[in-house]
Amino acid sequence: MSDTASDVLDFPHRHLLGIEGISSAEITLLLDRSEIYVEQNRQADMKKSILRGRTIINLFFEASTRTRTSFELAGKRLGGDVINMSVATSAIKKGETLIDTAMTLNAMHPHVLVVRHPDSGAVNLLSEKVNCAVINAGDGSHEHPTQALLDALTIRRRKGRLSGLVVAICGDILHSRVARSNIHLLNTMGARVRVVAPKTLVPAVAERLGIEVFHDMNAGLADCDIVMMLRLQSERMHGNFFPSIREYFHFFGLDYEKLGNAKEDALIMHPGPMNRGVEIDSEVADDYGRSAIREQVEMGVAVRMACLELLARNLSKIELGNL
Ligand code: NCD
Repeated sequence: MSDTASDVLDFPHRHLLGIEGISSAEITLLLDRSEIYVEQNRQADMKKSILRGRTIINLFFEASTRTRTSFELAGKRLGGDVINMSVATSAIKKGETLIDTAMTLNAMHPHVLVVRHPDSGAVNLLSEKVNCAVINAGDGSHEHPTQALLDALTIRRRKGRLSGLVVAICGDILHSRVARSNIHLLNTMGARVRVVAPKTLVPAVAERLGIEVFHDMNAGLADCDIVMMLRLQSERMHGNFFPSIREYFHFFGLDYEKLGNAKEDALIMHPGPMNRGVEIDSEVADDYGRSAIREQVEMGVAVRMACLELLARNLSKIELGNL
């Protein structure tokens, strides 16, 4: 990577806490940068030294397969030292608070903290207490910015653009940080966003977010370019939001019949983990001609490399006193 490139890579944020507040130019910068890493990750020699001497700590208070692994790979492929803090074996189990844990880690001078937490707002709070850069890897039902970026990269590569596309986000919108971050990103980039869900699973603010709300899959999927399915986030549900899984699948599960309403070349997406036979029919999930689910995982590593790189470049500027 040339030195001249570093002058134009201006990402004016110390942390990446959400998509809300990130401009379309900044999103485009992150996506363009990610493209370079997609290519690099397909080469035999993937390793770079951009993060040499930098420490990244993954601090996950919630289960994760894709996000944690891809942050770890991303940091290592950029030459950084990556440490995974497992909550199950940490002092958090002994009653230490989130902030005490953050302060303890901060005292070890990491450069980037990647944090996932079950409470909305917890990662923002933590970012105010530490000296390093913080990346939100999902906080409650609030935001999951790198997921929205990897979804956008997947869409842009398949469809050539984001602007003007009709994107239907379907399922448990109420509890989904993926939906929230995607709505912000897609709105900012000029896509037309619809959410499709039972009334009980749509947040009251939905209409204020500048999106269309549908409670019928056939109408919601009509002529859309992208069908993004979401898991029922039962770990965040207190009470009954739908009569039964069987009925939910009947009305809101993606099968070929409902998919028939979307454009012929509509792309099927899912952030994972998938619950087959609940929000998506198994055959549809495995239809690799139409589904981009595996590609989303690949894009996740590239996007996280771009995010780590841009935040680390800012840290250099802070250290040099010119940010
Ligand atoms: C999502 C998450 O954790 O918010 N998963 C992910 O990061 N790939 C979606 C989910 O858990 O359903």
